[in-house]
Amino acid sequence: MTDIQPIQFDGEDKSNSVRAKILQQEPFAIRTFTPSQCVISHSAGSYHYTPEGRKLADFTSGVLVANLGHNPVAWWNRVVGYLGLEAIKEGGEYANSVPLTAYNAITEIESQSNERLLANLQAAPGGNRINQIMWSASGSEAVQKALWAAIKYQPGKDMIIATRHGFHGKKGLAGAVTGSEEDKERDERVRFISFPKSECDDVETRKQPIDLKPYQQELDTLWDKHGDRLCCVITEPYLGGGGSYHPQKEYLQLLQAFCREHNLVFILDEIQSNFGRTGPMYAFSHYELEPDVVLLGKGLGNGVPVSAAVGRNDVFESLGYGEASDTWSANPLSSAAVVATLDEFETTNTLQKGSHLAGIIETGLIRLKETGAISKVRGEGCVWGIECADIGERKGAVIANQIIEECYLGKDGALAIHLLGALAGKVLRISPPLTMCPDECKAYLDRLYEVCQQVAAR
Ligand SMILES: Cc1ncc(COP(=O)(O)O)c(C=O)c1O
Repeated sequence: MTDIQPIQFDGEDKSNSVRAKILQQEPFAIRTFTPSQCVISHSAGSYHYTPEGRKLADFTSGVLVANLGHNPVAWWNRVVGYLGLEAIKEGGEYANSVPLTAYNAITEIESQSNERLLANLQAAPGGNRINQIMWSASGSEAVQKALWAAIKYQPGKDMIIATRHGFHGKKGLAGAVTGSEEDKERDERVRFISFPKSECDDVETRKQPIDLKPYQQELDTLWDKHGDRLCCVITEPYLGGGGSYHPQKEYLQLLQAFCREHNLVFILDEIQSNFGRTGPMYAFSHYELEPDVVLLGKGLGNGVPVSAAVGRNDVFESLGYGEASDTWSANPLSSAAVVATLDEFETTNTLQKGSHLAGIIETGLIRLKETGAISKVRGEGCVWGIECADIGERKGAVIANQIIEECYLGKDGALAIHLLGALAGKVLRISPPLTMCPDECKAYLDRLYEVCQQVAAR
């Protein structure tokens, strides 16, 4: 058993007990560190509630998943309806319910979710190369399957270019294309190229034009060395887990042009950005790209675990029967969740709400720089990162943890905010549901300002 002490807060007997038990029952390896370790008893819309009854505004959407908010009633009604869980026969069985597992079989809801997702993608500017869906349950599985397909697509071409400091997951090939050549033993098929971080380390810097020459040179050097083995480029629209760096669109367009020139598969990992995070449904529209393969996850099922690689059938059909199959891919619950989520996006003004909220978030976050606790602000739409400054002896990482803890505690228990543990050591992610009430968001951003002031003054 671990000798690490559980995180405990005064006056939180129930939460403290759960925290202590979990620490003994599970290896902490499955949990990323956060100084608040919030225990959630229930959630609705943009709010979480603790077992002690404290309310916290969710500035994370549960790691960019609940884009529509938590447990929206209309959405749940749709999910339940698609699963046929409404009518109960005399005698107590469901009359029309879809099974939760249909392995080695097909359900109509699966086919419906395919039709709806493809139509939605193809209607989005830049989605015209996409005509097949390879389902999975988690983001890293979608990454893995897409890379398998790209590697098999042209015999003998098995090398991948990934952008340095990206995050695509921890398992298998997804882990191999994450980070850089320095941080672990590497798959010899993976080569990294630079991602323009200094050119977009703040909203202001990002407004400047980018010099693409060094990036073109890196690509050309790789092509000269490995051109006969390269099969694909994988990148994210913006570095998410790597610290919220949102590049000038010309950088991503350069990667795409390189792929077109050399017949490589251009894979865009939108697991974090899909379904409205950057403004439109997909970041590929926002960045004016036309990827061969797009990876979807997180917000795709608004909380039901589901992911997918969507893209060119000729690439996906390089895999044989069963090579990308598993227990949960295209399971009926996930299919129902995807259709319900699409229904909500297609029949409500969620995207417009997100765009309106985006302006409020941007203004509220840029203002935080006045406090001295925040040195850089980066982001777009409803996905932002605020980089904590070093203050005296306290490094940015310490400041970040102090802000998380103060936000968790709230002001006399009120106006509390749930934040994720810092990205890349000292970057706090701000990504509320697109549906958060603008005035409430403003009030919580004002509270964040106060917290930053207090932490800076300590
Ligand atoms: C861009 C991106 N790709 C892939 C993943 C991995 O997804 P999962 O954790 O569901 O395996 C993540 C998760 O944070 C992500 O942000």
